[in-house]
Amino acid sequence: MRSKKITYGIIGYPLRHTLSPAMHNTAFRELKANATYKAFSLKADQLDDFFVNLKEKSSPIFGLNVTIPYKEEVLKYMDTLTPFAQRVGAVNTIVISPERTLTGHNTDGPGFLAHLVELKINTKGKRVAILGAGGSARAILATLCLIPERPESIKIYNRTSSRLDDLLEDLKTRFDVSIIQPVTQVEDLNVEIADILINTTSVGLGKDDPCIVDEEALHSNLFVYDLIYNPAQTALLKAARRRGAKTANGAGMLFYQGVLALQHWADMVLDDEIKQKMRKSLQKELESA
Ligand SMILES: NC(=O)c1ccc[n+]([C@@H]2O[C@H](COP(=O)([O-])OP(=O)(O)OC[C@H]3O[C@@H](n4cnc5c(N)ncnc54)[C@H](OP(=O)(O)O)[C@@H]3O)[C@@H](O)[C@H]2O)c1
Repeated sequence: MRSKKITYGIIGYPLRHTLSPAMHNTAFRELKANATYKAFSLKADQLDDFFVNLKEKSSPIFGLNVTIPYKEEVLKYMDTLTPFAQRVGAVNTIVISPERTLTGHNTDGPGFLAHLVELKINTKGKRVAILGAGGSARAILATLCLIPERPESIKIYNRTSSRLDDLLEDLKTRFDVSIIQPVTQVEDLNVEIADILINTTSVGLGKDDPCIVDEEALHSNLFVYDLIYNPAQTALLKAARRRGAKTANGAGMLFYQGVLALQHWADMVLDDEIKQKMRKSLQKELESA
């Protein structure tokens, strides 16, 4: 057992209120681990130095989460990537070995999937509509295209169509994207005949943000997943509920990606009791945020 306190953390910028420290520090307490989880708010011009220092044998840091805007940027610092992170083209979890080798993982996609499994949502053969083409859309698209429960089709819309084009050009080099159909108008998502609608945009983060699709298009056979977890009920989720749709916010995805990250760092499977404590602390943080 190490005598020196091991540090884990999250890097991003700007790092406002992050919920990850509460969740991971709860787990460390429960595991009686001599470890702590910190938030590192790093400007772009600080990244190089941060990763140089990470390579030092004396560094106390053995694991990191990565958030906006660095999930793609950090690829260049990795010594190895897991096959899934390679496919996604983005890293949200870094494992640092005692020899200071950096392995990049992506637990966003598996975290999203684990939440769908919990909710008993099967994507096989379904018509999926996705809003947004940022970093989180990248992980969700890779997940949906690579799992055995592949949807029948994925229609995707982004406000900035060139960003969507660029994303699909890149993903095309990583996996089979033949089920993905980009659309240039939000109406062309055909939400009225979709089975699953996923919001990966940041529309809804602001309390006065509008519902991003026409409420009339939402229906009772639809499952609506909003990656946003704060607020817990975005205008989209409220509208979907009014229309009788089943809904979920992204708190479960956040929880599962954190569990999977910790399992990679600790190289162990967490038991249910610890996971429940992590989830409770996340919930408490969300309620007080
Ligand atoms: N639950 C979780 O575990 C989890 C994980 C990751 C992310 N998230 C959440 O998912 C959201 C997106 O994250 P990200 O990493 O994908 O961010 P990102 O890479 O910055 O992408 C942001 C996306 O939102 C769109 N957007 C922003 N403002 C918009 C507006 N006014 N109208 C229409 N579209 C707009 C952007 O479209 P343009 O290209 O047109 O700008 C882009 O598609 C955030 O709210 C984040 O908190 C949740």
